[in-house]
Amino acid sequence: RGKRAFIAGVADDQGFGWAIAKALASAGAEILVGTWVPALNIFESSLRRGKFDESRKLANGSLLEIAKVYPLDAVFDTLDDVPEDIKNNKRYAGSSKWTVQEVAESVKNDFGSIDILVHSLANGPEVTKPLLETSRKGYLAALSASSYSYISLLKYFAPIMNPGSSAVSLTYLASEKIIPGYGGGMSSAKAALESDTRVLAFEAGRKYGIRVNSISAGPLGSRAAKAIGFIEKMIDYSAANAPLQKELSADEVGNAAAFLSSPLASAITGSVIYVDNGLNAMGLAV
Ligand code: NAI
Repeated sequence: RGKRAFIAGVADDQGFGWAIAKALASAGAEILVGTWVPALNIFESSLRRGKFDESRKLANGSLLEIAKVYPLDAVFDTLDDVPEDIKNNKRYAGSSKWTVQEVAESVKNDFGSIDILVHSLANGPEVTKPLLETSRKGYLAALSASSYSYISLLKYFAPIMNPGSSAVSLTYLASEKIIPGYGGGMSSAKAALESDTRVLAFEAGRKYGIRVNSISAGPLGSRAAKAIGFIEKMIDYSAANAPLQKELSADEVGNAAAFLSSPLASAITGSVIYVDNGLNAMGLAV
């Protein structure tokens, strides 16, 4: 039978999550997505109204089908963790079962198991602030949404992942090199995500036979990236200075994610793979 993928972090057709969904669908996988609760209504209505139909087109001419969209907030692990103000918040009250544990349970009830888990989400409320000016609360929020969320997803989904399954997340060069402007503790969050990729590869590999990797992607003008404020500059910088002087397309990251999620990558785990036109390898811009 074909593989089934759960992709956390799809709320429009502009980001990496959407491109990964398309690449996996093109390779024959069934697609489930987890969409951030506050973005759910607009994503679902846009899908319904055909706003994404142009970008739903796959290489073979068919349209991307999403078997089910699950509301998700990956900063909450279980219902007990949800504070009253969120429970009663107008944007959350219309949905239910959106904590990580509940989503994994719903996927289990609806489909039984998955083979591919994708973490394509991040959030840093103080991302525009330098690290020196970042509050403790903002720093911990960045780590909670962008790093711990991967641990949590794997924790609750691993038991319903078939042996040989794969988990992939998205990271960024700012984890290891200074990228001025990528603030709020987001650089720290990506460093944690990459370190956790190694430890989780060991633990989930031994316990479940699951591979765990991360893709370090080059700059893309997604919704999340535009919120940081200097994405156009980063795209221009990469095109000027990377070994491959072209703009990165989200599909290139989608294809790499499909490879990592496939049996072609059956011995690759605990790795951070660069999909960035080679920018990471430059020591001096020329
Ligand atoms: P995006 O805006 O398409 O994706 C981020 C998603 O995270 C959004 O759909 C948002 O709704 C969701 N999200 C935020 N908080 C959430 C929460 N608590 N629970 C569930 N979902 C939540 O933007 P993009 O850029 O495609 O981001 C995907 C991943 O790629 C992120 O990890 C990002 O850091 C990473 N990345 C992005 C780069 C870029 O230049 N755009 C470069 C390298 C990595």
